[in-house]
Amino acid sequence: MVARGQGPSGLEAVGSVAVHTFAAHQSISTTAHQSMDGHHVNAMAGDRGSGEPARLADYDDLPEGHFYDPDAEYEPDPEYAATLAPDAARQRRERVGPTGRPLPYFPIPGPLSDHGPAKIIAMCNQKGGVGKTTSTINLGAALAEYGRRVLLVDFDPQGALSVGLGVNPMELDLTVYNLLMERGMSADEVLLKTAVPNMDLLPSNIDLSAAEVQLVSEVARESTLQRALKPLLADYDYIVIDCQPSLGLLTVNALTAAHKVIVPLECEFFALRGVALLTETIEKVQERLNPELELDGILATMYDSRTVHSREVLARVVEAFDDHVYHTVIGRTVRFPETTVAGEPITTYASNSVGAAAYRQLAREVLARCHAE
Ligand SMILES: Nc1ncnc2c1ncn2[C@@H]1O[C@H](COP(=O)(O)OP(=O)(O)OP(=O)(O)O)[C@@H](O)[C@H]1O
Ligand SMILES: [Mg+2]
Repeated sequence: MVARGQGPSGLEAVGSVAVHTFAAHQSISTTAHQSMDGHHVNAMAGDRGSGEPARLADYDDLPEGHFYDPDAEYEPDPEYAATLAPDAARQRRERVGPTGRPLPYFPIPGPLSDHGPAKIIAMCNQKGGVGKTTSTINLGAALAEYGRRVLLVDFDPQGALSVGLGVNPMELDLTVYNLLMERGMSADEVLLKTAVPNMDLLPSNIDLSAAEVQLVSEVARESTLQRALKPLLADYDYIVIDCQPSLGLLTVNALTAAHKVIVPLECEFFALRGVALLTETIEKVQERLNPELELDGILATMYDSRTVHSREVLARVVEAFDDHVYHTVIGRTVRFPETTVAGEPITTYASNSVGAAAYRQLAREVLARCHAE
């Protein structure tokens, strides 16, 4: 753990690269947009229905003088495209992303001049081992790399998020448990700076399991975390909560505090089992406790483009959730377990790896969704 600012001085560099690249890509995407009228999109849909290859049927119909680059719209970011290999060639040919939909370009976000109030995202799925913790760490680190101030909340008594950031949960005196249960405890006493500039952590350990029991007798027990996070909203752009694999009171607290939910789904046979219960819980919290809550997206994780099985599961997930499924898909790679041992995000542990590129792309997609509102 090091203090913010002591880390590698790459942040400025990332910032300036970001601005530069953003400007470069913006002109491409504007061009694509100008010419991408509804006419063209409908033609694409029609093509697929008629079994024709998904080429631009009405390419010649574009008004004269319009520059149209058919690749601009579908071309995945080259870094991210590498994560899809060996699927990338097929996807390029068919002009779709791994989810089978046209893959938009998500611009590299520009720097922010001021920060907050934070959007709170709950990373939630009651199924275990689907990539919640991995996604919390790496989405957080990617957002921080893009100059966003990020707070990660370890809301699982297993403390996996803390471990994944190099903290030994057993050695902690103060954790998120104290913040929840002790009146007058300030978040600053519990907060830890991580080695990633711009990213802080509210750690947890096994103590938190007692909170689940003790909270039952509290007044307004479901909104305890929401109250605890309130003083921190102004300091951050994103707060990401790593939920435990259950739909108990801790998870309900996370959902009550959150503006958005991200549901990681492992591309495995039982991926969709239990998702109905999860969406029902989200809807109940929305109705009764937190009308602002929204499902931001379903994130397919541990996708292996080489297996038919993985592709079929992803197709089923898209069939079930349609536009809720992020275009970004996280591939399966042994690098993720390695990062847990190293105690750092993949974006710093293996900055040029396909896994790091995938989470950067996810960060850009999440930012694009937030800006679209
Ligand atoms: N894309 C991936 N490719 C390969 N392994 C992965 C990937 N994402 C996560 N893993 C590994 O899978 C295991 C479970 O991931 P993770 O801990 O993120 O899931 P989780 O949903 O938080 O689990 P839990 O429900 O126990 O909290 C970890 O060992 C992690 O390193
Ligand atoms: Mg976890």
